[in-house]
Amino acid sequence: MALALATALPACLASDRSREAAVPASVARGARLFDGTEPLAGTLSGHSTPLPVVATRCIQCHSGPGKSTTAASDFAPQLDRRQLREARARRGGPPIAYEQSSFCRTLRTGVDPAHIVLPRAMPRFDADDAQCAALWDYLTRGPAE
Ligand code: HEC
Repeated sequence: MALALATALPACLASDRSREAAVPASVARGARLFDGTEPLAGTLSGHSTPLPVVATRCIQCHSGPGKSTTAASDFAPQLDRRQLREARARRGGPPIAYEQSSFCRTLRTGVDPAHIVLPRAMPRFDADDAQCAALWDYLTRGPAE
């Protein structure tokens, strides 16, 4: 038992450390995806032609974490740790909080974890796993206020 622990522990610590090292890079990439510096293909629900990036940048409609990422309008909720991680009633549904996986699914399908369809104005994004993880890391681990 002691031996098993002694061999398992270093591997576990090492993967924790590499995950920690990867987070700042992922947060930085998430910020670029959020403000459109790194383009992310998005479509209007029911359409297949990608919208111009200038229209699908998250910051076009949402503020991000921190005052430095204030959206052009307050058309859609500010996205930060509080908004995403707290259980809240959204769009008339039961209270839900997002996890990384449900956040990614919502981004891609436009259906939230309570199975409620987001308004058509919210584009559907063709985000791969790394892009999605970067956005999640940025929005939930970046500066809170
Ligand atoms: C053209 C405007 C627009 C753009 C661009 C946009 N959104 Fe949205 N988004 C919305 C609207 C509108 C809602 C629904 C708000 C509501 O239901 O109150 C929404 C909802 C969301 C939600 C659900 C929030 C909740 O509390 O349930 C998430 C998550 C989200 N957007 C993430 C993003 C991300 C990430 C991007 C960029 C990759 C993005 N959005 C780009 C308009 C937009």
